[in-house]
Amino acid sequence: MQSRIRHLRCEGRTIAFVPTMGFLHEGHLSLMRTGRERADILAVSIFVNPAQFAPGEDFEAYPRDMARDLELAASVGADIVFTPDNDLMYRDGFQTYVNLEPLGRGLCGISRPIFFRGVATVVTKLFNIVLPDVAVFGEKDYQQLVIIRRMVQDLNFGIDIVAGPTVREDDGLAMSSRNAYLRPEQRPAALSLFQALCQSQALVKGGEREARNIIAAAVEHIESFDQTAIDYIVIVDPETLEDMPVLDRPARMALAVKVGSTRLIDNMALGH
Ligand code: PAJ
Repeated sequence: MQSRIRHLRCEGRTIAFVPTMGFLHEGHLSLMRTGRERADILAVSIFVNPAQFAPGEDFEAYPRDMARDLELAASVGADIVFTPDNDLMYRDGFQTYVNLEPLGRGLCGISRPIFFRGVATVVTKLFNIVLPDVAVFGEKDYQQLVIIRRMVQDLNFGIDIVAGPTVREDDGLAMSSRNAYLRPEQRPAALSLFQALCQSQALVKGGEREARNIIAAAVEHIESFDQTAIDYIVIVDPETLEDMPVLDRPARMALAVKVGSTRLIDNMALGH
């Protein structure tokens, strides 16, 4: 992979990169189309990164379908699909990690304390291998996007980070590889995340500015469904991810909810 990239760069070609964990859906493909437009070469990675799963999480169960993924990536014009295996990415004796504090500690970092260390480390490794000019990340994973932007700035990667909007199913559910875990009867509960976000947007449009009132309404809506357990619901500054008690400027609302044993996340801009 590195020698192929070296050749392409010697020829003066620009490279766009979309890292994924596979089981591709329209959300991933939309990022690839964006990447396709931005550079000569579109490189995609498919790697279920063990470093971002804690013991007891779904690393083994994470859905995988490499044959289908390769077809989908080709259908949107990917030139290179990089599919390293675990032993290659994490050789014996591996001990170097990238850690962002405090950005990686809040929100998803509370219930998944090693998650963002795993993400920042693997994305660093992938950036060093692929040497992209541009990399595309989804707003669906908003905290991840903010962390990658911060890391690229802090560590002088010189890579342009482009954000792609969240792609949703017709009913509003944010697309996610983990939606494959949901049973049909859990769908209404899964949809409560999107509904709570829309309801919050409407409250802000109607003049509500107190974060705790907006959050309380979201909690009430989500908890009215069976099988939901809220991990967090926050309204934060879009860049620092610090709590914003009063919406005196644009904010981001983000939430994580377990539906049965499936953990779902979603987020939306408020007050734009
Ligand atoms: P994965 O969950 O496969 O997501 C890969 C990329 O697709 C991420 O940038 C994510 O934000 C984006 N994405 C996922 N669902 C989306 C949707 N519904 N709409 C738009 N974009 C969406 O995120 C990861 O993998 C990993 O943490 C990774 C960055 C690859 C590091 O291992």
